[in-house]
Amino acid sequence: MTYQHITVKPLAGAIGAEIFDVDLSQPLAPTVLDEIHRAHLEYLVIVFRDQDLTPDSQKAFARNFGSAHINDFFPTVEGHPDVQLVAKNPEDTRNVGDVWHTDVSYVRKPPLGSMLYALEVPEAGGDTMFASTYAAYETLSDGMKELLEGLNAVHSATQSFGVNATGPEMKAKNKSMAFKYTQDAEQDAVHPVVRIHPESGRKSLYVNRSFTKHFEGMTVEESKPLLHYLYDHMARPEFTCRVRWSKGTLTFWDNRCAHHNALNDYQGQRRIMHRVTVLDDLRESHADAAD
Ligand code: SIN
Repeated sequence: MTYQHITVKPLAGAIGAEIFDVDLSQPLAPTVLDEIHRAHLEYLVIVFRDQDLTPDSQKAFARNFGSAHINDFFPTVEGHPDVQLVAKNPEDTRNVGDVWHTDVSYVRKPPLGSMLYALEVPEAGGDTMFASTYAAYETLSDGMKELLEGLNAVHSATQSFGVNATGPEMKAKNKSMAFKYTQDAEQDAVHPVVRIHPESGRKSLYVNRSFTKHFEGMTVEESKPLLHYLYDHMARPEFTCRVRWSKGTLTFWDNRCAHHNALNDYQGQRRIMHRVTVLDDLRESHADAAD
C-alpha cells in the first residue's frame, strides 16, 4: 500500500508501524485521515511520536474513528469521564494490563480500538507488546481452524474487575489504579472464537487470558487445555511488535485483530498514560445511513 500524505515505517514483520509527518493536535485533512485509517487497518497498531495532546485534543482525534467508550472500572481524568487514567506510581507493584488481552472483550459490542497517550514514562521499561490475532489464526492447521470455527467463548470482567481484583489486597499493590467495583464486573458476553474483522473481512482468533472464561457449552476445566494452547500460540514472538514509549507517544491499536501486554518491568518508577477507547459506532452509523 502506498501513502502520499503520511510517512509509514513498519515496526516488525506481522504488526505495527510508526507514522510520521502528522500533528494530531490539529484538525486533520480528510486525505490524511484516510491514510491513517488505511495504515491502522494494514498494520493494526500505529504509533505517533512527539505529540502534544490535551484530553480534549486526544478525544477530538479519536472521534474521527468512533465515539469514546465509558469504562465502568477505571479511574478517569478529572472532567473527562471518557479518558481513562492508566497509572503506575513508584510505590505501586502492579501495573494495568500485564497479561495478554484485548480491551473490553467482556461487553456485547467490544470497542474498535484504544488510543494510549504517554505523559510520563520510566527511563527504561514499561514497553507494550502487541500481537496480531490474524497471524495467530492464519498459522493454525486446517483441522484446528475447522474445530474452532463453530465455537463461541464466554468473556467476563470478573477476573480483572470483580471483587477479588478490586479488593484491599489489590488496592495495596496499585494504589494509583483503584479499580471501581460495580455490578457490571459480573457481566458476561459471548463472542465467536474465530472473529471476522468488519472492515478487512479477515479472520482472527478472539480469545484472551484476561477476560475469556470458557467455551460456550463447556466447563472452565474442559475449556482450559485448548484455551491455554491458543493463548501460548497467540503470543508467538513472530506475531508481535514491541512499542517503546517516550513522552508524547500516542499508540492507536485495533482491538478487533490485535491483543497486547503491558510489561511491568519498571518497579519504583512512574508511568502515566491517558487512554481513550474508541467504539465501533461510526462505521456502523455510516453503514446504517447507506441502507
Ligand atoms: C492497556 O492494557 O490498555 C494498557 C496498556 C499499557 O499501559 O501499555
